[in-house]
Amino acid sequence: MSEHKRLAAEKAIDYIEDGMIVGVGTGSTVAYFIQALGRNKERIKGAVSSSEQSTALLRELGIEVLDLNSAGQLSLYVDGADECDPNKCLIKGGGAALTREKIIAEASAKFVCIVDPSKQVKVLGKFPLPVEVIPMARSLVARQIVAITGGQPVWRQDAAGNGVVTDNGNVILDIHNLAIAEPVKLENALNQIPGVVAVGLFARRKADVVIVGGEPPVVL
Ligand code: A5P
Repeated sequence: MSEHKRLAAEKAIDYIEDGMIVGVGTGSTVAYFIQALGRNKERIKGAVSSSEQSTALLRELGIEVLDLNSAGQLSLYVDGADECDPNKCLIKGGGAALTREKIIAEASAKFVCIVDPSKQVKVLGKFPLPVEVIPMARSLVARQIVAITGGQPVWRQDAAGNGVVTDNGNVILDIHNLAIAEPVKLENALNQIPGVVAVGLFARRKADVVIVGGEPPVVL
């Protein structure tokens, strides 16, 4: 699928306009976008980054990384997704960067989502839904998730068995066994639980454009 990711990422360059500050997501698809952005860096003013990982890649290529507070409203945000439904609602956060991704998506006039065909689903929820949680609220939030969704929250751990810590110092609960019939309703309900920082459902603020990588890429 990496070739499809690259093709989707390179198509997103069509949305770059001269002098822009570009919002940049996180993940393996976005890594291809950052490479393509590097080849167009003289055209842009800089980037706002959603993770330490993307910041490092951007800086390696000599792209200036700006603070969102000084950048203000962005024209364009480009990011990948773990799942994408026909309404352009998304599950994101497989790379644990969901909170900053959500902030930048909200601050952007246009959200272009770049995916390979394996990310397209009819109903969201086969990919476990990530929720970023304040560490002290982990058990409380897990119990409420079970009550609200009937799904199974699992505390995300790394390969060594340590709890994953986000760039914001929080933990991730991944909710398994969901079939999300009403994404906006579920996003709103989970956001009400004290201790939830962000939910990896991008339904209230979904993608405006989805580019599915292929030869040629398909723009939805
Ligand atoms: C990062 O937290 C995620 O939201 C990514 O955008 C998502 O996991 C897609 O990643 P890949 O492009 O690596 O599949």
